[in-house]
Amino acid sequence: MKVGFIGLGNLGRAIAGRLVEQGVHLVVWNRTIKKAEDFCRERGCELAGSPADLISRVDRVFVIVFDSSASEGVIFGKDGLIHGAEEGKAIIDLTTNHFAYAELAFKKLKEMGIHYLDAPVLGSVIPAMKGELTVVVGGEKETFEENKNLFGKFCSNIFYVGPAGMGAKVKLINNIVLGGIMDVLAEAIAIAEKAGIGKERMIEILDKGAGKSYILDVKKKKILEEDFDPHFSVDLIYKDLHYAQDLLKELGLFSFTTSAVKETYGLARKMGFGDLDFSAVYRLFKR
Ligand SMILES: NC(=O)c1ccc[n+]([C@@H]2O[C@H](COP(=O)([O-])OP(=O)(O)OC[C@H]3O[C@@H](n4cnc5c(N)ncnc54)[C@H](OP(=O)(O)O)[C@@H]3O)[C@@H](O)[C@H]2O)c1
Repeated sequence: MKVGFIGLGNLGRAIAGRLVEQGVHLVVWNRTIKKAEDFCRERGCELAGSPADLISRVDRVFVIVFDSSASEGVIFGKDGLIHGAEEGKAIIDLTTNHFAYAELAFKKLKEMGIHYLDAPVLGSVIPAMKGELTVVVGGEKETFEENKNLFGKFCSNIFYVGPAGMGAKVKLINNIVLGGIMDVLAEAIAIAEKAGIGKERMIEILDKGAGKSYILDVKKKKILEEDFDPHFSVDLIYKDLHYAQDLLKELGLFSFTTSAVKETYGLARKMGFGDLDFSAVYRLFKR
């Protein structure tokens, strides 16, 4: 099976690598072309000259880029996917998008006869490498069914959640929880240290008490070793919480938690931690 793949960031590269290991032949493009060249050389994939060139060679394309402005550029911009796509092709957008963008992209592409799935993923680099991501898919059910097997190559949980835009909404709500738990765990560990309790001991105790969670499991090593090499960056969680606030606005709701947590990551960015793993928020509380 031959599939297009755009976006070789931290998560994109892990998913692309997993697809290759599962026997999928990839045609690849990335904005910084050197990353795509290196990946193609190491993994034996085809390099495309542009998104338009890429989609002319395949029937379906995964897109996983930073945000909705990047997705818009790749799909609708100069040399974007629409300039090489014929009717019937499918764009599967794994980017965590703004819900309004996902709705609009679906509508505009449908008018051109191109299928669009709004399919953000839950989980990070390590689950991607093991094929254990969760995907929440919005779009036409038929397009979803046609691509379900492909999702199965890198996801162990696959949820169809309704029309385009719903994938993004579900994902953003999930990330209110993700950002909040990481924030409170980092803060608690730093408080413990100020109170004279070693972080190793506190993590051990939190793991048996109120802190026991998936996030503690996957991030405790990073905090213990203070190795904040990014899997999921501070910049990305900040972007997601910003989109989540727009969702709250659209729904006429409020969330003090979302605002406070978002501004904590905002402060982390201001302190120069934007491209570090989001667990680096610990450094704020440690100061
Ligand atoms: N990392 C995770 O654990 C995780 C988990 C769940 C969901 N996500 C979501 O998955 C998406 C990708 O995450 P990631 O960790 O791979 O991000 P990342 O490491 O920050 O990489 C971003 C990717 O987007 C590309 N890009 C940025 N701006 C662009 C533009 N204007 N035009 C074209 N390409 C552009 C980058 O290209 P260059 O190489 O040229 O910079 C790079 O390939 C994000 O939406 C994120 O929220 C990530």
